[in-house]
Amino acid sequence: MGSLPAIELFSTPLWKDYELLDSGDGLKLERFGRYKFIRPEHQAVWKPALQAHLWEEADAIFQPTSEESGGKWQYKKHMEPEWEMRYQDLTFMARTSNSRHLGVFPEQAAHWDWIRKQLSASQKPVNILNLFGYTGIASLAAAKAGASVTHLDASKRSVQYARENQKRSGLLDKPIRWIIDDAMKFVMREKRRGVHYEGIILDPPKFGRGPKGEVWEFFKMLPYLLQEIKPLLASKPLFLVITAYAIRASALSLHFAIQEMMGNFAGNLSSGELILNEKSAGRIISMAITSRWSSR
Ligand SMILES: C[S@@+](CC[C@H](N)C(=O)[O-])C[C@H]1O[C@@H](n2cnc3c(N)ncnc32)[C@H](O)[C@@H]1O
Repeated sequence: MGSLPAIELFSTPLWKDYELLDSGDGLKLERFGRYKFIRPEHQAVWKPALQAHLWEEADAIFQPTSEESGGKWQYKKHMEPEWEMRYQDLTFMARTSNSRHLGVFPEQAAHWDWIRKQLSASQKPVNILNLFGYTGIASLAAAKAGASVTHLDASKRSVQYARENQKRSGLLDKPIRWIIDDAMKFVMREKRRGVHYEGIILDPPKFGRGPKGEVWEFFKMLPYLLQEIKPLLASKPLFLVITAYAIRASALSLHFAIQEMMGNFAGNLSSGELILNEKSAGRIISMAITSRWSSR
């Protein structure tokens, strides 16, 4: 038996505009810029550390419905529909919508820092592919570090928000290709065209749909997607990072999938959980599982 993989916790100590203020009773109290929110967090199987009147300061509460991820916001105070947030030198908008998500996944900042670190070490021009890219902050981090970025998402609205974030971050002069397409279809097309990327970022959802209703199912399709992505890797790839939310799997599952995919290249693989550190009582909540490979 080989040595056991070390499972790591990846945290985000550099945030100023985001805080996990408290958690408990199946909820989390968070600050996104100037507003505070209460969102469901089934992992918070403990008592809140802050007093009730501090929870009552929340500007909005997400009321879930029985269907998965469904629900709506209940506003407690007047709020702008969207507001600015910053992370390091990146500026973007957060907003409430008809989902619990607010336009930025704060735990992903661990990856933004890591991606920039990988790119800053590179001497050559680098092409990056960001699949399932949402509102584009990882794409902006890569572009800021000098990469040419291809950003893809099935949602026209997400890509529109990502482009607005590019403008807001002052990165309009950076080479970012914005694509609205189904991830699998696009990867197969890039393979036929013989396009190569030094870095790949993947955040496949549990379930999703392409712009023409193409179905994405994580467990069914991830092995096939990774197999199709492999020929897109440059002869000397720099990095690959994959994150998965809301699935019943350990980081070990991603670890061995990426180990299999990147086995021919000399590199380092680390896997674990993207976490948020709670301010009130120092508890830690795992938000997603992840695996990241970088060249040696
Ligand atoms: C978990 S979110 C990504 C979050 C993002 N990485 C971040 O941290 O900001 C998943 C994204 O995948 C997109 N998506 C779902 N199905 C897709 C498909 N078949 N092809 C391309 N994108 C898809 C959704 O529109 C959504 O923006």
